[in-house]
Amino acid sequence: MRVFVTGASGHIGSAVVPELLQAGHQVLGLARSEESAAALEAAGAEVQRGDLDDLDGLRAAATATDGTIHLAFKHEAMFSGDPAAAIDADRAAVDTIGAALAGTDKPFVITCGTLALAFAGIDGRPGTEEDVLPGGPRIDAENATIALAASGVRSSVVRLPPLVHSSIDLHGFGPTLIGIAREKGVAGYVGDGANRWPAVHTLDAARAYRLAGERAPAGSRLHVVADGGVPFKEIAEAIGRGLDVPTASIAPEDAAEHFSFLGGFVSLDNVVSSDITRELLGWEPTHPGLIADYDEGHYFAVPA
Ligand SMILES: NC(=O)c1ccc[n+]([C@@H]2O[C@H](COP(=O)([O-])OP(=O)(O)OC[C@H]3O[C@@H](n4cnc5c(N)ncnc54)[C@H](OP(=O)(O)O)[C@@H]3O)[C@@H](O)[C@H]2O)c1
Repeated sequence: MRVFVTGASGHIGSAVVPELLQAGHQVLGLARSEESAAALEAAGAEVQRGDLDDLDGLRAAATATDGTIHLAFKHEAMFSGDPAAAIDADRAAVDTIGAALAGTDKPFVITCGTLALAFAGIDGRPGTEEDVLPGGPRIDAENATIALAASGVRSSVVRLPPLVHSSIDLHGFGPTLIGIAREKGVAGYVGDGANRWPAVHTLDAARAYRLAGERAPAGSRLHVVADGGVPFKEIAEAIGRGLDVPTASIAPEDAAEHFSFLGGFVSLDNVVSSDITRELLGWEPTHPGLIADYDEGHYFAVPA
């Protein structure tokens, strides 16, 4: 297949592109800058120059290829006070590509996150692929994508855990938590730290995106999750070991000050099952789990 990949130059995209190429696919990657275009060309992909807001360009690329994997997201806007800009652009891109693919049976794989299940109040039991949320930021794009199955698109949604980890994870939630621990001199967790976060290695995630493009049935919600729920205290302890700083409980009322914009996330309990996804895709993670990956040490090199 010739696959259109948005976000091809990002953390996860830069693993998805070689994964696709090594499996014999061709890649047309969206790049908004010279730097991203050069990185994609060096990886062996064709380049579609343009921005996520260039809906004509997205439509043309989706039409010209055999399937689309959508990873681009305006994280800068999301985390600098304009989340609506990021969420609306994502929805517009999904609607545009979805309409372009109607009636083609081509695969269209988009990206959401498992944390939405915790925000929706699913805690104390594993969230599953069968948990459908009524709506909200990013959930509207998820539900619109699933609905495309009825109009002849082999659509699927990858729900990623908040920690997608590897040596190429340079600015996700993991590096952010490590940066906070480095700055504060303490690796924190909220309360007793028994709340859990799921995780997956970037290379395992990349393989799941390829498999979703190749074989996910139309209308699939997929949990690309290896560790179903790591206690946050264990995450903090691994960060403390890596940085050689103490680990400490942070009172819930101090979480926003300590963890900055992550203050609203760090006490969530987000346990997630991926049984349905493993069965549907024939996918099993093979790369190190979160704590083993942190213990390899690559996250803790002193920044230049
Ligand atoms: N990483 C995680 O732990 C995690 C967890 C849950 C969900 N997710 C979701 O997974 C997806 C991929 O995440 P990631 O970690 O790979 O993100 P990332 O490293 O921040 O990469 C984002 C990608 O989107 C591109 N992009 C941003 N704004 C754009 C615009 N206006 N026009 C065109 N392209 C634009 C970036 O291009 P440049 O290279 O030019 O900047 C980059 O290729 C996102 O939807 C993210 O929210 C990630």
